[in-house]
Amino acid sequence: MDVIDPCTLVIFGAGGNLSRRKLIPALYQLELAGRLPERMVILASGLDNLTRDQWIIKVQDFLKEKYPQGVDKTALERFIARQHYHANAIGDGNAYPNMKSLIEDDKTFPPNVLFYMAVRPAEFPSIIEKLGEVGLLQQKSGWRRVVIEKPFGYDLISSQTLQRGLERYLDEKQIFRIDHYLGKGTVQNVMVFRFANILLEPLWNRHYIDHVQITHSETLGIEGRADYYDGAGALRDMIQSHLLQLLTLVAMEPPVSMAAEHLRDEKVKVLKSIRPITQNAVHAHAFRGQYASGTINGQPVPGYLEEKGIPQDSTTETYAALKLFIDNWRWSGVPFYVRTGKRMAEGASAISIRFKHPPQNILRNIKGEFSRPNWLMLGIQPNECLKLELQVKEPGLDLQARTLSLDATYRKDGDGDFDAYESLLLDAMEGDHSLFLRIDEVENAWRVVDPILKVWAMEREFINTYPAGSWGPRGTYRLFDRDDQFWRHSLELDGGKLEAY
Ligand code: BG6
Repeated sequence: MDVIDPCTLVIFGAGGNLSRRKLIPALYQLELAGRLPERMVILASGLDNLTRDQWIIKVQDFLKEKYPQGVDKTALERFIARQHYHANAIGDGNAYPNMKSLIEDDKTFPPNVLFYMAVRPAEFPSIIEKLGEVGLLQQKSGWRRVVIEKPFGYDLISSQTLQRGLERYLDEKQIFRIDHYLGKGTVQNVMVFRFANILLEPLWNRHYIDHVQITHSETLGIEGRADYYDGAGALRDMIQSHLLQLLTLVAMEPPVSMAAEHLRDEKVKVLKSIRPITQNAVHAHAFRGQYASGTINGQPVPGYLEEKGIPQDSTTETYAALKLFIDNWRWSGVPFYVRTGKRMAEGASAISIRFKHPPQNILRNIKGEFSRPNWLMLGIQPNECLKLELQVKEPGLDLQARTLSLDATYRKDGDGDFDAYESLLLDAMEGDHSLFLRIDEVENAWRVVDPILKVWAMEREFINTYPAGSWGPRGTYRLFDRDDQFWRHSLELDGGKLEAY
């Protein structure tokens, strides 16, 4: 456990969704676990003109909402003692100078400062500029760091413009581009699984792997985020960031060490090796859809176009699936199928790896399932698990085969159960960049999706729909290379059967 410097955490957008649902609960969890440094202060900054006491009531409300079963009284007292509030009303020209005098003149605030941008992406540049102009980003008496939420830009060009804006006041070491997926223990487990188990390495390549599937499905809709989501869509919201990151972890070479730059160098190599999808190849490599009304958990739910704030003619995708090829020595010719969707049949994330068939089917005359391939599956959420499907002889007099699923669910009673933000907040306070994105990772990820975004932006007349509560639009099977490839919807045994779509 590294020692964390005393520090001040400034949360911009403290009254917003992210702060309410993720940041404040994660900080409370760190408090409970005794992991926050003793001299660490939280300065919440928001548009409302609140007093410190009013902010503290809000914090308690956020925690009540997240933990209706109650919180630990002693930890809550410690947590509340750290809280301060700074009003940052729109158009208030004194807000940033005031923040500066507060942080730099008042002995309450340690001079190492982490600024967390829990605001709409459109606001990142102006906040950074104002912080920079008043001198709050200069590292004179302590370090100054900035955590930037995704999406970092909305395409390659805008991400480069955003980056230029940041570079005026910050160097790369001060910037922490967060992708909360990397904070998930199960996502980090992909690296442990690959690099702590030698038995996989000989199989982890084009000779044995038929294809890889990476899925993130949700039963949730857009949850009142029309404003952001309709301009973003599933490809930007989930694939450019979270799912391409997952893909890099599955596909990368072992890094020289787990040091941040070594790790990020390897991830960048994967992104650079993804075969560019030219605009006229977009339809063969990408499929989009939008949810229509349907049923989730037995309840009727509206379609995307009926959601509050969505224009009637929107063709924004709530489902996106891609076929990608990584043109390098290890993966040449192996398709990576990546998909995500809102209002799907189940909320689950998983990596499913399908192995090739044996070179000769010498068991051809045997009844049963000898012809089914091996699958290796890593469940990311809701249940972390590791499953391997193998063929075995069915007990009995005849030579019959059946598929067996080795289920190595590895969570034990008493294991810590943290959300993604806890470990990332700690890393940012410690100055560890390993699980944050370097600018070249972000740019190369935009390069992968940009041609698709361009084509989809031009095709505004039509989008395939799917009923809410289903597994997505019909027709996505056309992405598959062969008839015996199909989406693996579930990690259970019958999830390996052929699905129509
Ligand atoms: C966010 C997306 O980054 O990730 C959301 O903006 C999505 O649309 C969410 O729902 C999924 O992450 P998690 O951790 O809630 O599965």
